[in-house]
Amino acid sequence: MEKVRFGVIGVGGMGSAHAKIIKELEETELTAVSDMDKETVDKVSKEDAVAGFTDYKKLIASGLVDAVIVATPHYFHPSIGVATMEAEIHCLCEKPIAVSVKGADLLLEAAKRTGKVFGVMYQSRSLPAIRVAREIIESGRLGKVRRTCMINPDYRCQAYYDSGTWRATWAGEGGGVLINQAPHGMDLFMLLGGMPSRVTARVRTRLHDIEVEDEADALLEYSNGAWGYYYVSTTEAPVKRMIEISGDNGKLILENETLKFYSLKTSIPEFTVKNAAMWGTPETVEEKLELPKCETGHGAITGNFARCILRGEKLLSPGEDGIKSVEFINALILSGKKNKPVDIPVDREEYEELLEGLKKSSKEKKVVKVQRVTDPRLTK
Ligand SMILES: NC(=O)c1ccc[n+]([C@@H]2O[C@H](COP(=O)([O-])OP(=O)(O)OC[C@H]3O[C@@H](n4cnc5c(N)ncnc54)[C@H](O)[C@@H]3O)[C@@H](O)[C@H]2O)c1
Repeated sequence: MEKVRFGVIGVGGMGSAHAKIIKELEETELTAVSDMDKETVDKVSKEDAVAGFTDYKKLIASGLVDAVIVATPHYFHPSIGVATMEAEIHCLCEKPIAVSVKGADLLLEAAKRTGKVFGVMYQSRSLPAIRVAREIIESGRLGKVRRTCMINPDYRCQAYYDSGTWRATWAGEGGGVLINQAPHGMDLFMLLGGMPSRVTARVRTRLHDIEVEDEADALLEYSNGAWGYYYVSTTEAPVKRMIEISGDNGKLILENETLKFYSLKTSIPEFTVKNAAMWGTPETVEEKLELPKCETGHGAITGNFARCILRGEKLLSPGEDGIKSVEFINALILSGKKNKPVDIPVDREEYEELLEGLKKSSKEKKVVKVQRVTDPRLTK
């Protein structure tokens, strides 16, 4: 196989952008698209001159694809992803891989059972600053994590929320900022700082006319004794992504795409016991970091996924990692809604019960001007 033949399932805002990217990459070829909306699939299949299907099962059975990108609303990700891998087709799933940990479990089980390549579209992992931050952590230069912090205010206007019947509803989307806008940053936060073992969260709807949360925060506890804090919203401008990971040997600070690393000449535990002067503090050095020139964005993840199929290249964003953000999202919603600390891994049945109740309370949206438009910031 020289090129991986790709199908895209769900060719709305994000899926139609994936279709274009697949056509441009060296390792991939677009051969089919699917969307349950006939007008949408007809438009994209005509523009891209490939086969179009309103039923994704027909795309899977067509023999036209080796791999698919699933870019439907999140609730459909597990059923489509599992059906794909069971049909011997590799699966690159949009984030979040599922709305609930129970759904994410199904995808991970299917990937293990079928041996198909399974990836998740966390394109921020391709950023040079993230690649370097990972190297610093993996090489042990940061040391044991002592404290974490993520502050991630984002912004969406009401027209965004009104652009689809599924958006910002419990029945159609399964959450608000936590399930839709937060996952990219959250993925990086856990990639660098690790998974918390317990969260105590607050969730609320502060600015928008929606039934799900547009603001959330949480106090975090880690199994090694570290503490952390997390904040996300779609209510502020300018938007920002700040992550701080403090370790025994230094501190990593990521502000948007700017990375700083301060290393300590003597580690905190060692300095604390050995230093004799009353007002001593460990000496810190800001290290000069060289950021690599590398491919970034969705294309970097899709290209790497294709090279994994073609020649076993290590995945930048393995599907198995996709469950971590789902655990975190479910834990925050459960904790915020029930007003109690929640342990990770999340109790599957308790979360399903909560979600079923929230879905029952969900109301059909009255004011909707459907728009399937790719976020212009993603196609720059
Ligand atoms: N990685 C990123 O940067 C990024 C950015 C935006 C959206 N997303 C993700 O992509 C997914 C889609 O978001 P969007 O903004 O493109 O939504 P959208 O509403 O613009 O598009 C979704 C499309 O899926 C179609 N669809 C729904 N159910 C389907 C089914 N069962 N089979 C086939 N088609 C189906 C809809 O008709 C629609 O055209 C979401 O999971 C979202 O989180 C990721």
